Parts: sequence; structure tokens; C-alpha cells
Amino acid sequence: MHILGIETSCDETGCAVVVDGRAVLSNVVASQVELHARFGGVVPEIASRAHIEAINPIIARALAEADCGRKDVAAVAVTHEPGLIGSLLVGLMAAKTLAWAWGVPLIGVNHVYAHAYAPALYRPGRDEPPAPIEPPAVALICSGGHTALYRYDGPTELELLGSTIDDAAGEAFDKVASILTLGYPGGPSVEKAARDGNPAAVEFPRSLLKGQSLDFSFSGLKTAVLYHVNGVPGRRREVAGETAHPNAGRGIENFTQREIADTAASFQAAVVDVLRIKLRRAARQIGARTLILGGGVSANSALRAAAGELADDLGCSLRLPAMAHCVDNGAMIAGLAYHELRAGRTSGLDLAARATVRG
Ligand code: KG4
Ligand code: ZN
Repeated sequence: MHILGIETSCDETGCAVVVDGRAVLSNVVASQVELHARFGGVVPEIASRAHIEAINPIIARALAEADCGRKDVAAVAVTHEPGLIGSLLVGLMAAKTLAWAWGVPLIGVNHVYAHAYAPALYRPGRDEPPAPIEPPAVALICSGGHTALYRYDGPTELELLGSTIDDAAGEAFDKVASILTLGYPGGPSVEKAARDGNPAAVEFPRSLLKGQSLDFSFSGLKTAVLYHVNGVPGRRREVAGETAHPNAGRGIENFTQREIADTAASFQAAVVDVLRIKLRRAARQIGARTLILGGGVSANSALRAAAGELADDLGCSLRLPAMAHCVDNGAMIAGLAYHELRAGRTSGLDLAARATVRG
């Protein structure tokens, strides 16, 4: 069964054709990175306008690359929550129009659940079909907008265990990249800089590690990087005293490449440490057999390596999305929609876009 999946929740316009929830025939993504780069983050109004321009050509390309016509498509799936409301609406209107015009079911999909589903996808002729996920699993979803742990008992059976109380991990990467003048989007540029740095050079805080909490907090870490670069403002400077790093507090223009690399590596190590510790905690709490990573930050090789070591240590299997399926894409939407459809859950043409998901 061919499902067309549309994704426009943030700054990527994605469309894909996926067969039986697993085999990705096409997966076309138009990135808006260049439009948002000079602002150092996604500007919602620019994002929704860019989706309007991109959506029809991207859908046409996804169908062409899958060598499929409207008659082959059994259902149209779309991200309807959570995300930037203006961006979501563009994909939603396109999906409703196609479902109505083609006379096929419309399936609304939760974007975060779709990230957790991404490791189940494969590209025929390029990857081996992945083995089914053995539940119970813990899914760690880290992106620019989300950082959360879920108990995963099946593609549509997820239970929230913990989430960030402030910044998302990807957001912290983006903001730290901006502080370190490393360019946007921050994840890949911080990871690149970190390769030449010493992860033990600066001791950044690891938040919310006490007790059994499965929530995350990254805003203190982000501020620690800011203070490390620009100095601690006002009276707090006296309280904080001198930091260990030789150039700390002198402003980014006085940092050498080496010091920028050390700061990036130390920041990345702090994020990965927190994610690894919480993932271990969640896995132990539910007796997980499988660990799942998803979302843009799951492209980070330090995180992938740490999750691999953790899985070995716990005797769990690890399921990572292919690089192409880490960041936002339509394939994960079409893939998860197959399971929604099989469970009899389709949406009406009154399906609403929701910026946040409650409960
Ligand atoms: O899943 P995604 O495409 O969009 C959201 O749903 O937010 O994730 C984008 C986020 C950005 O914050 C980006 O900086 C981060 O994922 N990211 C990374 C890496 N690649 C992308 N973070 C760390 N390391 C990476 N290699
Ligand atoms: Zn995402």
C-alpha cells in the first residue's frame, strides 16, 4: 500500500511515498536553512511563506521519483501536530486537497511519534529492511523543538516519560553555535567544531541528574556557555570567581580556533552525557529491550556512539534512523500513517493543526 506523506511542521518542506509503512520509494526535502541562517533560528512567518512556494513542486517530485501517479496512492498522510501553526497549516491544506480530490483517506500524524518511527524505514536497494522493534522500548526524541523520552510499545503506542522543562537539545545546539559564531543550523556546525576539541577542557553543568527525574533542562548549560565566552555579568562575576579556562569571559573575538573547538566539544559532551544518563534511567525503569533514537539531534555521531555503548552495556538492541530520516521528512509521516490506517484511525477533512499537544 502506497502512502503519500507530507511534512511542514517547521522549516523543512517534505514529501515522500512509502510502501507498507517501511519501504521508502521517494523522500524529497526542501530545506529553508538559507532563509533563516541570518536570523540564527527559524522565523515562523518566513517559514510558512516558503512552504507555500515549495509544497506543490515537492509533492510532484516525490510522486515522480517514486514513479507513481495518483491512482497508486492509497492514502495521504500529514503532520498536523505539534509544530509552527502557520507551517502546519500549509501541509495540512495541501494534504486535505489531495485526499479530497483523489478520494482517498486523510491521516493526521503526530510529528514526534513519527520521529520515533523513523528507524523502521528503509530504502529498497540501499539498506537492509530493519528487524521489527522488540518492545518495551525507550524512545529518545531530540530535535530543535522537542526533547522527550517515551515508553514505546508499538508505532502508535507511546507514553511520555519525561521531557524538557525549557530548551530542547537541538535548540541548545543552535544557540551555542550562535554564541560560538559557528553558523546555522547549530547541530552540524557544533559537531564539526567539536571534532578538533577536547571534551574535558571546560566543565559545563549537567542538569536535573538528581533523583529519578526523566525531565531535561538545557537552558542552564546554554547560559554557562554564554558566560564562559562573555564573562559572568554584574555582581555574579564575583560569586562565580575565575573560571579555569585561560580565555574564558573575554568575548568570542578573543577566542582562538582551538578554544572554540574546546568549548564546542565540552558543550556537546555535556548534552550527550545528560541524554545518555536519562536514557539509561528510563531503560532501567521500564525494563527496555530496545533503545530508539529519533529527531535531528540523533544525527549527532557522539550521541549515536554513546547510545551504542549504552545499548551494549544494558544488553538492549539499538535502533537508529538513517541519516536522511533524522531531520524532518515526509517518509516518517507516511510510514507511521500506515499503522494509523491499519488501526482504523483516519481523519476527517476538518482535521485541525495544533501547535502544541496537551495530555
Ligand atoms: O528534527 P528536526 O529536523 O526539526 C525539529 O523537529 O525541530 O531537528 C532539527 C534540530 C536542529 O536544532 C539542529 O541543530 C539539530 O536538530 N541537529 C543536530 C545535528 N543535526 C541536526 N544536533 C546535533 N548534532 C547534529 N549533527
Ligand atoms: Zn522534527
